[in-house]
Amino acid sequence: MAAVEFKHVDVIFGKDQKQAAALLDQGKTRSEILAETGSVLGVADASLSVEEGTICVLMGLSGSGKSSLLRCVNGLNPVTRGELLIAHKGTTVDMANISSRQLRELRRDRIAMVFQQFGLLPWCTVRENVGFGLAVKGVPKDEVQRIANEKLALVNLSDWADKPVNELSGGMQQRVGLARAFATDADILLMDEPFSALDPLIRDRLQDELLELQKTLKRTIIFVSHDLNEALKLGNQIVIMESGRIIQAGTARDIIFKPANEYVRRFVANINPLHVLYAGVLMRPLTQFNRTQDQISLDEGWILQFDATNTPISLRLQNQEYPLQTLDYDTWMQDVVEVAEQTDQPLCVTQAGKIVGVITHKDILHSLLRQTALSTEQPM
Ligand SMILES: Nc1ncnc2c1ncn2[C@@H]1O[C@H](COP(=O)(O)OP(=O)(O)OP(=O)(O)O)[C@@H](O)[C@H]1O
Ligand SMILES: [Mg+2]
Repeated sequence: MAAVEFKHVDVIFGKDQKQAAALLDQGKTRSEILAETGSVLGVADASLSVEEGTICVLMGLSGSGKSSLLRCVNGLNPVTRGELLIAHKGTTVDMANISSRQLRELRRDRIAMVFQQFGLLPWCTVRENVGFGLAVKGVPKDEVQRIANEKLALVNLSDWADKPVNELSGGMQQRVGLARAFATDADILLMDEPFSALDPLIRDRLQDELLELQKTLKRTIIFVSHDLNEALKLGNQIVIMESGRIIQAGTARDIIFKPANEYVRRFVANINPLHVLYAGVLMRPLTQFNRTQDQISLDEGWILQFDATNTPISLRLQNQEYPLQTLDYDTWMQDVVEVAEQTDQPLCVTQAGKIVGVITHKDILHSLLRQTALSTEQPM
């Protein structure tokens, strides 16, 4: 079920929104609209569905409209035209048409935001900042303390709990912001480049932690990033924006192997596949192969053999039989390559205990070649 759904959303900043919208309908560009009306086109005709419990990453260059789109979800930006539907208490509310009471309710109970610029209370302690949302809701003090301590441990800031937050470095403040978002029971988290001010190593660790937390918390997260590496690593769905428009929305696999245009291709050319691709992206799903009776023919003479219950049981090469070697769907490419280096045989990918795809050496090379072929061919 969709937790958040955008339907043809326009966001226009400025006084002359009607005229700007009319020009937009005539196919005028962002700069033409700006020149003629003085209004800025933040987002144009965005349609997107974010499923409950998934991470959707909005990605694009500076000024592409990521924050503008994100900020509509909690009413920080008005929706100029279109609908923005949020599932709430068994019905849906439209952010384009919401009462101030409903908006207050949503912001209090459902939606939390982590800002690019932290948005912390500088004079309060780290722990007070983390517990702020809960305290405002009237949660008992002991409970606020307990939850705040738990989330601080999660982001490795327990030792700093009693310090004023403005004594922390930028990266540490960002972690306080994260802990605060997780402390609330908001089921929709809006994160506007929460990791962009962090050192690469800390960023990497926090990304891992976010993924780990998400396994149990299952929140609906809309995450803004200008880094495709980060987007591919975190996003169940990746949405590429350019000049206020959604250019492509899809899985990591869609974005990497079927980039919608040159703009996306250029981003793809610059990713580091080892750290952002995983077995589920590298594999070819079993459903994609032609089955002849109880066999699938893989690369270089390898044959995957099925049993009577339709379960893969072994691999064969020139009438020699080999046991299957399996990897989990979530295994990072780095680890897939390490396993592949030890064996010549194709690897089977499992999801919830079932084999769902295979990775051959060719698949690994193919995903690497995509990068190199493009990056030599397309200097930025
Ligand atoms: N409150 C505002 N008033 C006027 N114009 C705005 C406002 N917010 C955003 N814009 C404009 O909308 C366009 C899209 O900006 P937005 O902040 O959404 O981009 P972004 O993709 O988040 O970029 P960045 O990566 O730099 O944060 C820009 O041209 C910006 O100037
Ligand atoms: Mg932004």
